[in-house]
Amino acid sequence: MNVLRHPLDLNGRRFLVTGAASGISLATSQLLSQLGGRVIAVDANAEGLSRAVASFEGPGHDSRCLDLRKVEQIPSWLSEMASAGGTLSGVVHAAGLSCIQPIRLLEPSWYRDVLLVNTEAALALARGFQPKRVAHPSGGSVVFLASVMALVGSPGAAAYGMTKGAIIGLVKSLSVELAAKKIRVNCVAPGFVKTPMFDRISALWDTEQRARVEAEHPLGLGEPADIANAIAFLLADTGRWVTGSVLVVDGGYTAH
Ligand SMILES: NC(=O)c1ccc[n+]([C@@H]2O[C@H](COP(=O)([O-])OP(=O)(O)OC[C@H]3O[C@@H](n4cnc5c(N)ncnc54)[C@H](O)[C@@H]3O)[C@@H](O)[C@H]2O)c1
Repeated sequence: MNVLRHPLDLNGRRFLVTGAASGISLATSQLLSQLGGRVIAVDANAEGLSRAVASFEGPGHDSRCLDLRKVEQIPSWLSEMASAGGTLSGVVHAAGLSCIQPIRLLEPSWYRDVLLVNTEAALALARGFQPKRVAHPSGGSVVFLASVMALVGSPGAAAYGMTKGAIIGLVKSLSVELAAKKIRVNCVAPGFVKTPMFDRISALWDTEQRARVEAEHPLGLGEPADIANAIAFLLADTGRWVTGSVLVVDGGYTAH
């Protein structure tokens, strides 16, 4: 008898998720585990990683405490993970750093690490994922995190917007180049989502500025689960005909 598989069912699939100790990535890893997927959680925060993995459902998860600024090493890390535990069905790159600074103060030292973690690590992860020995033979899905700051401007967001705008460029070319290997490449562009990163940014705002940002999202500020749902859609068979896309999940921030 042919048993119909639910298109969001991730049973038997293994995913590498970066940034898994916190925020959007933690919510994504938890959701993937609930959908039956096995997660390799990656973060530079060892303590946060242990807490994260303890919150996943089901067996077979793994974690690696890695500093993604070491971009040269990323492809060999993926290769080792595949040799140790089997091929991967997808990679989510949601580790990230913010950078809010007016242009007059924007020395390269402010954004070097932001560019490495947000953008160069994304390219290195895709490079590491695409060899036959790493990506599952039935194909795979890569999901990067862009931002509405790649689509609309905001004072002080030049460097952060640069790192996220480049993600969209990466998605366009990689999706075309890797389609022959049955690897899809997409990104999600969130509006403001209530995570520790948002808490750090909004701690600098007064009440008026906070109210203005909230009002710019007609559906209110986002929850990490709102972005996790979009990422799961792109990883699972629900996204099987989606590649090269920028999925904007922003409560209406860019609609006006
Ligand atoms: N929160 C928002 O409003 C928002 C909006 C748009 C886009 N994003 C993007 O979504 C992604 C997740 O953001 P978040 O709000 O969940 O952030 P967060 O700060 O809550 O989590 C980011 C995680 O990345 C990890 N990380 C940072 N540098 C690292 C490194 N060198 N090596 C390994 N891990 C590292 C941190 O330890 C942390 O656990 C980021 O790419 C961010 O730019 C967030």
